[in-house]
Amino acid sequence: MDVYEAVKSRRAVRGFTDEPVSRVVLERVLSAAAWSPSGSNIQPWNSYVLTGARLAELKTHAVERVSHGDPWDERQYQLYPPVLKSPYGERRSAFGRERYSALGIAREDLEARQRAAIGNWKCFGAPAALFCYIEPDMGLPQWADIGMYLQTVMLLLRAEGLHSCPQMAWSQVRETVAEFLSPPDGLILFCGMSIGYEDPTVSYVRTGRAPLDETVTFVDG
Ligand SMILES: Cc1cc2nc3c(=O)[nH]c(=O)nc-3n(C[C@H](O)[C@H](O)[C@H](O)COP(=O)(O)O)c2cc1C
Repeated sequence: MDVYEAVKSRRAVRGFTDEPVSRVVLERVLSAAAWSPSGSNIQPWNSYVLTGARLAELKTHAVERVSHGDPWDERQYQLYPPVLKSPYGERRSAFGRERYSALGIAREDLEARQRAAIGNWKCFGAPAALFCYIEPDMGLPQWADIGMYLQTVMLLLRAEGLHSCPQMAWSQVRETVAEFLSPPDGLILFCGMSIGYEDPTVSYVRTGRAPLDETVTFVDG
């Protein structure tokens, strides 16, 4: 698969089959992703991969928590700015509309939206998950490094015929995740990532993108 195809076929998949993901494949992907760039090559990513019975147990615990309406764990970072100014607010609303319409859920049906959100903590059925942590004293450039690393992981997964869904939702139950992974004290859980083979029977709406001239300015000499 060439890079353009990997980039264009990657999307946040929210329906996976239970076909297991081979440990050999995961090691190949993560070994290659380690070649992602980072400022001064400090490689600030700390990844944990969870599969099998332990992942099943984590999903059960997380879903129980969320279904009981337990409050989220104290935030380690802000998911979005409190006010998303234009055009970002509009883009976020458009995403929400598209996502819920694909699921046949009316925007005002909070209960159905909550049920759909619970899919996050079931990893949308995926049999493997990656959790990516960063040290608390790292700054914005290192968070950007982590983003590049995670995108590299997701593209390499495509090359292996796999799909993924990056999920900040896991940060909302980070203490439950920590019970399973025992990361060193203080590490920040940036996100989880569901990994597996796509379930083609799950419907979705492909997200769009802003036209190039909204996000790119060419300055010619
Ligand atoms: C850092 C990050 C966190 C995300 N968190 C979630 C999440 O918690 N749950 C979810 O369903 N999708 C999550 N997404 C997926 C985005 O909604 C998705 O990438 C975006 O809508 C663009 O769609 P696409 O990836 O299918 O092209 C996340 C994406 C990123 C990059």
